[in-house]
Amino acid sequence: MNDPIITNRLRLDPPSSADLDALADIFAMPEVCTYLGDGSPRSRAQVEESLAKRIECLASHGVTIWTVRARVDLPATDTAPAIAAGTVVGDCGVIPVAWQGPELELLYRLHPHAWGRGVATEAATAALERADRVGIDRLIGLAYDANTASRRVLARVGFTPRGETDRWYGVRLHWHEREGH
Ligand SMILES: CC(C)(COP(=O)(O)OP(=O)(O)OC[C@H]1O[C@@H](n2cnc3c(N)ncnc32)[C@H](O)[C@@H]1OP(=O)(O)O)[C@@H](O)C(=O)NCCC(=O)NCCS
Repeated sequence: MNDPIITNRLRLDPPSSADLDALADIFAMPEVCTYLGDGSPRSRAQVEESLAKRIECLASHGVTIWTVRARVDLPATDTAPAIAAGTVVGDCGVIPVAWQGPELELLYRLHPHAWGRGVATEAATAALERADRVGIDRLIGLAYDANTASRRVLARVGFTPRGETDRWYGVRLHWHEREGH
């Protein structure tokens, strides 16, 4: 399962230290991290540590957080410039929640230039297909109340809202569930 996942416009690549620079640049952006954990931008060392976990996770679970690249040129929008084919636009995948589990969670984090294009929905759909293929039958998705964009993505890819909880990450989050695929 070490192959890239190909979609219409994207390629989800297995985690690699070669992508550290591109991902560290994205996770250094405050607007990307507002609704991730404690809301602070991630250091390069944190991203490097995450990449090591992603590589291990793919080997042990058959799923991970993949690096998401544009596979074709993405045109400029009203609010963002064009994105050239090959550019890393973010990441997306399925991992044990907060790297602890036992539940598995769906994640997606994009560079702001990739927002508003359906990229998260396209990447998440592909990650879920892979999760189905390796036999994962229950997934959760977590999002802050204010992160309406993320909650919309979860709804679009088939998650059911289950209310709010502070069970995971030590903060109050909406949790969503996807079962039985
Ligand atoms: C969460 C996040 C990935 C959502 O991004 P997004 O751009 O809203 O989601 P998508 O990529 O699926 O795009 C959907 C939007 O693009 C629009 N769109 C434009 N062109 C489209 C196309 N060709 N296909 C599909 N949708 C398209 C849709 O109408 C939709 O807009 P709407 O929600 O206003 O109706 C993004 O806000 C992000 O990376 N945030 C920072 C990290 C984060 O918070 N992650 C989630 C943690 S829980």
